[in-house]
Amino acid sequence: MTRARIVVDRDFTAGEVPRRLFGSFVEHMGRCVYTGIYEPGHPSADEDGFRTDVLDLVSEMGPTVIRYPGGNFVSGYRWTDGIGPVEDRPRRLDGAWHTVESNRFGLHEFMAWARKAGVEVMEAINLGTAGVEEARALVEYANHPGGTYWSDLRRKNGAEEPFDIRLWCLGNEMDGPWQIGHKTATEYGRLAQETAKAMRLVDPGLELVACGSSNSGMPTFGAWEETVLTHTYEEVDFISLHAYYQEHDGDAASFLASSVDTDHFISRVAATADAVGAKLKSKKQINLSFDEWNVWYQRGLDTEDQPHRIAEQPWREHPRVIEDTYNVTDAVVVGTLLNSLLRHGDRVQIANQAQLVNVIAPIRSEEGGPAWRQTIFHPFARTAALAKGQILQTVVSSDQHETARFGDVDTVDVASTYDAANGQVALFLANRGLDEAADVEVELRGLVADEGAVAEVLTVPEGADRLTTNGPGQEGVGLRDLEVGVQDGRVRLSLPPLSWACVQVPVREG
Ligand code: AHR
Repeated sequence: MTRARIVVDRDFTAGEVPRRLFGSFVEHMGRCVYTGIYEPGHPSADEDGFRTDVLDLVSEMGPTVIRYPGGNFVSGYRWTDGIGPVEDRPRRLDGAWHTVESNRFGLHEFMAWARKAGVEVMEAINLGTAGVEEARALVEYANHPGGTYWSDLRRKNGAEEPFDIRLWCLGNEMDGPWQIGHKTATEYGRLAQETAKAMRLVDPGLELVACGSSNSGMPTFGAWEETVLTHTYEEVDFISLHAYYQEHDGDAASFLASSVDTDHFISRVAATADAVGAKLKSKKQINLSFDEWNVWYQRGLDTEDQPHRIAEQPWREHPRVIEDTYNVTDAVVVGTLLNSLLRHGDRVQIANQAQLVNVIAPIRSEEGGPAWRQTIFHPFARTAALAKGQILQTVVSSDQHETARFGDVDTVDVASTYDAANGQVALFLANRGLDEAADVEVELRGLVADEGAVAEVLTVPEGADRLTTNGPGQEGVGLRDLEVGVQDGRVRLSLPPLSWACVQVPVREG
């Protein structure tokens, strides 16, 4: 039996839970847009062609902010292709994903969808093949009330009121040699600086994200952030991080400890940003936007839907691309990645799980058919719903186990929040051990636990194994109630092997 003792104290907080931590991502890639969120002719489609079965799942999942329209796609995208009468919009080759883009769905359609989904929009601009001019025109189109060329064009295209988009990404993964218009750190840093300046001259109230490294394994990681921020420090508010994890060669223990890597990645980027700030003698702090993260099985050359193989296929509209089917282990990892983001909520103010539908996504849909929840849907949905108020620092003494990639790691992983308005502590727990249950005891200091704590758990279903997945009409991997007790002010529960759980504890201050 594994044991873990956790202490949280009402006075030791890491700031307010940034609600933008529960973001997601819609890219013009594979079937995320077409037959994902948008499918006129689907039995559930509304008057705008949006799938209401998918919209219902999005609302259950609860993302707060959605990044759009890419990803690698944005680095070759002309945003003007996606406005105006649909029948006049050009069909284009998208080199990033080797597809034909019909442009039937563009900025107005996405804004209408976002309004229905109740999410904030995080708009990415093209800094691969485009630059300052296209970016400032887009800001004028989206945010200026009227009386100018671009703002009047928006009104002519049916949107009288400005879209008022606050949050913008200055390009995507510009450090990556695969990126259309890939740049050196100096080339990108200068372009991002001038683009940010020009965008803010149109609308001073924008919040801007500069591209950090595509992942912490990039050869330029660290140096890239330093150079880019040296150019952009006073012009931007955030630097981005991207990370994808997968199980290698059946090494589940290392995979389950992926959040150790996330923790390090975040600390290193924050330290680099602060070092640049110190060098520039700036009073400003740059925060982090973890705007792509998830589990992603980047499988060698084995399937047609892998990015390096799709270029061998004929040019098609919205083919199946990286439609990973997630299992129980993946769901536990996603829970721990959310925990890492939450623990660092003082610096990570935005995070976007990539992506929302079909493409490495918590929600899947079939053309003309059903939509369903993948296993990873659940930790996201419950964390987004329950993580409110203040982030509580957690002091953990957990039994540990050895992993090949990260050495000894805590078997039990935790994040916690305290919502004073609702008198509730939330605990998000994972048992990364594959074989043993974990007895967990949580001591609340400065808070008195009342009766009525409830817990839910996601684990391996009876008679199944850790690789069990969900499918259309088959959602056997989900949440079930878990027994939780409160005794002498301590919360006690037993986590099954390989599980993720959330606990709600009613509390009083005292
Ligand atoms: O999310 C899938 C792809 O992963 C994105 O287009 C790109 O930014 C990243 O490499």
